[in-house]
This record gives sequence, structure tokens and C-alpha cells, in this order.
Amino acid sequence: MSFPTVRMRRLRRTAALRDMLNQVNLQPSSLIYPIFVDENIKKPVHIEAMPGYSKLPIAQVVDEGKQALAQGVKSVLLFGIPAKKDEAGTSAFAEKGVVQKATRELKKAFGEELVVVGDVCLCEYMSHGHCGLVKDGEVLNDQTLNVLGKVAVSQAESGVDIVAPSAMMDGQVGAIREALDDAGFEQVPIMAYSAKYASALYGPFREAAESTPKFGNRRSYQMSYGSPEEALREMELDLNEGADMIMVKPALAYLDIISLAKANFNVPIVAYNVSGEYSMVKASAQNGWIDEKAVIREILTGIKRAGADLIITYFAKDIKSWLNQT
Ligand code: PBG
Ligand code: ZN
Repeated sequence: MSFPTVRMRRLRRTAALRDMLNQVNLQPSSLIYPIFVDENIKKPVHIEAMPGYSKLPIAQVVDEGKQALAQGVKSVLLFGIPAKKDEAGTSAFAEKGVVQKATRELKKAFGEELVVVGDVCLCEYMSHGHCGLVKDGEVLNDQTLNVLGKVAVSQAESGVDIVAPSAMMDGQVGAIREALDDAGFEQVPIMAYSAKYASALYGPFREAAESTPKFGNRRSYQMSYGSPEEALREMELDLNEGADMIMVKPALAYLDIISLAKANFNVPIVAYNVSGEYSMVKASAQNGWIDEKAVIREILTGIKRAGADLIITYFAKDIKSWLNQT
């Protein structure tokens, strides 16, 4: 059967028809809001490369959590900028580290109401800006695992609900699972940054987190974007090591990888809509070139449609009122 018996436009005629046939519903509870907590500041510091987004002092984190909850967002992802960086990442697993302090504040204020996710990596805490220990210009894998385990345990002690390892060291999920279990945190889930690509779209984040590598780049540990099958292998390995959820990062140029993840694994799939994706939308909206809300809605719906159950996004704020408008 075909035209004129078939007319696809019959079901597009009214807003009500379009609404009732809509298959992908965005809801604020599937968004995770990233927060950069900076130990060195007393007031919010606007990040130039991320219009409308700021780093926050620890004292302001509870207020930000309250705003996220008011928007129907249930979860925040914490990144820390420490007062002191060194070559061992010491501040990342300090009892009074910046993420640990912020987590304690959030947990005191909101308890189980807000799901706090801790990013487990070392780049923000290292003077050289790499995600692992470095010796003779090389990022060491196995020696870094122990440190990542310490970071995860320290974050769990401060009360994080989920740990999210993002260093892209081989074996990191297994090492973290073992460290958590040994410390009695067998109930703390791991959201693994499994398919994390070496991407130019992280630029604005690195400006914010002051985590640009001082030498070289991250290509010896983050994935190359020309090889989709490698992503499946990374995800499979992370699941075998005990990951509870797997992530694809970035999101927009990697929708095929999100779909692959959804088709191959029966676990929650997370997509990270990264800083560069945020900034591109904001910059063109500021120039009046696109309709900001409409574009954000379309992009987030596309990421969800590709197969993401959860989306980490800097857009998670101020969206409740218009997120589901069509
Ligand atoms: C590093 C890390 C990165 C991001 C978060 N943690 C990427 C990187 O610097 O390589 C990027 C987040 C974003 O761009 O929004 N562990
Ligand atoms: Zn890192």
C-alpha cells in the first residue's frame, strides 16, 4: 500500500495526536547535573567558555543542589578543584578533600533525596594534569589503580551514592569494586565511563577544571573515535569487572555508540553531553542564530532516542517548565 491510500500526515495533524504518539519522553529525573566545586574561591566564578555556567565554592553547593531538586533533577555529578595539586593526586583521596567536603554538606542537607555521584579521576588533582601517575613522561596504568581505589573509598566514606571512574585506566572498575567491597561499601554502585573518547569537545571543561595536561595529550588512554567496535569491548570488560552502569562520552557525535551500547547490554546506559556540546549551543543562541530551548530539547531527545537512559548535562538546570513542550 502506498500514497494516496497511505498518508503519513494523517497522524501529524494536531498537537494532541502528535503528543499521544510521542515515543520518547524526556524527564528531569533522568538528567544528572554536573557541579564543579572549587576549594580556592569564595564566590561563584563564571567559566568564560561555558556561558551561564559557574564553578562554585563549597559553601554554595547545597544551594545548587536545592535548585537542581526544584527542577526535578535527582542527581548531581561532582568534580573537584583542589587547593593543592601534586604528582600523587593526594588531594583526591583526602578525608577533607573538596569533593568529600561538598558531599558531606549535600548529604547533611538532602540525605537520600539527592543522588550524589563522585567523578573518580586524578587529572584535576595532578600538577601535570594527567588522569594517572606519570613516570618518565608515561602515564602508568597498574600503579594508578591503587590510587583510584583510594579515591573511590574516600568518596564513599564521605557519602557519595555512586562512584564514576573516568580515568580510562585498564582494570579500573575491577580495582575500584574490590577496594569498595574491602572497605564495606559493597552497596555503592559504579557508573563506569566505559567508552570515553579522546575528544576536542572537552576543551571548555578543562578550562574550568584547570586540568589540561601540561605535556602530551590523553590519547594513550582515552579511545580513538574511528573505532566503534573497541567501545563494545571496553563496555564488556567494565561489566565483567562489576560496572553497574556504562557511559558513552561525548554524546552528540557518538549517538551510534550509544545505540550500540543499548542494543548489546541490559544495563542502564548513560550519555555525557559534554562541555563543548553545551558551549556550541550557548554561543550560537547568544548570537541569536538558533532557538536555544528548542535546540536543547531536540538534542536531549535525540540522545535519549539513541538509547541513553540517563544524560549528564549542563543544561539540566532551568528546564522543568519547558522540557516537554512541543
Ligand atoms: C577527565 C574528564 C574529562 C571530562 C570530565 N572529566 C575529559 C578530559 O579532560 O579528558 C570532560 C567533561 C566535559 O567536557 O564536560 N577525567
Ligand atoms: Zn581525568
